[in-house]
Amino acid sequence: MPVPQLWCSHRQGLCAAALLLVLALSGQFRPLDAGQQTAAAQAVVLPQPVTRSITLVAEPGTLTIRRGQTVPVWTYNGTVPGPEIRVYAGDSVRVTLVNHLPQATTIHWHGLLGPNSNDGVAGVTQNAVLPGHSYTYRFVARDPGTYWYHPHQNSDKQLDKGLYGALVILPRQAGSSPQIDRTLLLDDWPLAALAAAPMQGMTMPGMSAHTRVLLAAAPTTGRATSASSALAPYLADRGMETYQTFTINGHAYPDTTPLDAAPGTRVRLRLINAGYLTHILHLHGVTYRLVATDGHAVAHPQETRALLPIAPAQRMDIEFQMPQGTWSLHDHNGLAGAAEMRLLLGQAGQRSAADQTMDHTTPPLLDVAHYGQPATAAFTLHSRFDQTFQLVLQKAPSASAMGGMSDMTGMAMDAYTINGRLFMKGDNLIVRRGQRIALVFVNKSQAAHPMHLHGHRFQVLTLNGVAVTGAPLYQDTVMVLPGKTTVVAFVANNPGIWMLHCHELHHAAAGMDIFLAYQGSPRLAQLGGPAHNNPE
Ligand code: C2O
Ligand code: CU
Repeated sequence: MPVPQLWCSHRQGLCAAALLLVLALSGQFRPLDAGQQTAAAQAVVLPQPVTRSITLVAEPGTLTIRRGQTVPVWTYNGTVPGPEIRVYAGDSVRVTLVNHLPQATTIHWHGLLGPNSNDGVAGVTQNAVLPGHSYTYRFVARDPGTYWYHPHQNSDKQLDKGLYGALVILPRQAGSSPQIDRTLLLDDWPLAALAAAPMQGMTMPGMSAHTRVLLAAAPTTGRATSASSALAPYLADRGMETYQTFTINGHAYPDTTPLDAAPGTRVRLRLINAGYLTHILHLHGVTYRLVATDGHAVAHPQETRALLPIAPAQRMDIEFQMPQGTWSLHDHNGLAGAAEMRLLLGQAGQRSAADQTMDHTTPPLLDVAHYGQPATAAFTLHSRFDQTFQLVLQKAPSASAMGGMSDMTGMAMDAYTINGRLFMKGDNLIVRRGQRIALVFVNKSQAAHPMHLHGHRFQVLTLNGVAVTGAPLYQDTVMVLPGKTTVVAFVANNPGIWMLHCHELHHAAAGMDIFLAYQGSPRLAQLGGPAHNNPE
C-alpha cells in the first residue's frame, strides 16, 4: 500500500470529499493523486494558496508488518506511517490532533522553520494534549521540501510505537517534476520489546497471540553480520540489539510495496529515516542524483552509484531514470533486519519476483562533503561568528551517578550528556536575534549521535573532521561520528526556545538535549503538570 494521503481523517471523510468537490468545481484546487503520487508531474501553477485542513487521530491499532506478523502499534488515523500531508508552498495548513491514546501526546513538525509556538514540544512550547482532548496546529507551508511529523512527548517510546508521518511541501510551480514522486519512511522496530513490555494503559487485544507470533518470527541470532569498516562508526555502541525488524512504509520485505516504474520514467524518492539506526541504502543497478538533504536542494548534484547513508531523522531525496529490468533498493547496514529493508523497482507485469539482475558490487559510501558543486552560501570555513558554542557529546560513566535513571523494566540506563550535563541541568545556549552562530559538536563517546536543531536549518562546514567543499550542505540533523568533530553554522533568525538534541531518541531520553534560547523569548510551557509534560 502506498502511504495514504488524506486531507481529513476517515472520520471526516464525507466533509473532506464534499470540500474537495466544491474546491475542484470552483477551479481553486486540484486534488493530488492519492495513488502513485504522480500529480506533481502535471501540477499546474495554482492560482491562489489555499487552506488545507487535516485531522490526525492518534489511536492504538495494529500493523501487519508482513503476512502472519501483526503487532500492536499506535497510529495516526489507523495507519503506520500516518497520512502523508502534501501541500504546496504558500498554503496554510491546519492540523487538528485528536488524542485517543492512553497518554498525553503532541505533534512536532520536524525540519519546519515555523513559529516556536507551533513546535509541538511538550513542556517547552505547549502542554501535551491529554487523552480525549484535541489541539490545532497552524502554519504556512513555506520552503518546499521533505519534512516529517512525530510526537515530542515521551518521544522515544511514542515513535517506537509507530507514531510518525511525512510532510511534503511541493513548489508552487512544478517546472519539470519527476513522473513518480514517492515517499519512503524507514523504521526499525524493537518487536520483542513491544510485545513483552506494553506501555502502561495500552489496550492490547490478542496480546498473547501476538507475542507467540513475534517470538516465532524473531531471528535466532541478534549478531550483526559483517559491516565494512567505513560503515562501522555509524552503528557503533548502539545497545540496539532488539531492533531487528526493519520496515519501509510499515512493511518488511517481501511485503513492501514495489515501485511500479516503466523504463525511462523519471523517479523521485523521498527517503525519511523515522528510526534510531542509520540505514545504508544501495539502489542496485541504478545511477541516481542526491537532489535534497533534509528538504534543502543540493547545488548541481552529479550522478552516482554510491551507498547512501541516512541517519536517524534525516531526509534524503534522490532522483533517477528507471532502467530496464527489476532492481531493488536495499539496506546494507549489516544488521539482522537489513535483509527485510528492501523494495523492488520495475514495471508492473514485467517485474520478476526478485531482483534477478542483482548487483553484486558494493560501491563506496557517498561522500556528502565533496558532493555537488560549490555555490554561494551564507557561511564559509573562514566566516566570523558572533558566538561559537562547543558541545561535547559523552556517555556518562554511570547513570546512577547522574541521577539514577532507569527504564521501564527498572534496569539502570546509560546517561548521555552535553558538556557533561544532562538535559535541564546545564546552561542553555543563549543567542540574540540576527547573530551568526557556530556550533562545534565534539563527539567523545563511542556512539554516533544524529544531532538535531529545531526551528532552523544549518549549514555544515566540516563534517566529521572533513571540510565541506562540494555543494553547501544544509541540514537540520547532522550525524556526528564517534571521536569526530563537526561544525555547523546558522543565522539566529527565528526567536523562541528551541530543542537541540540527539535523534537517537534513547540518547535524548537519557539526557542528550539542550535549549537554544533567544534572549527575551518566553518559554511557553513547563515540564510535568497534569499532562506529565516530558519532551523525550
Ligand atoms: Cu524529530 Cu526534537 O525532533
Ligand atoms: Cu546520540
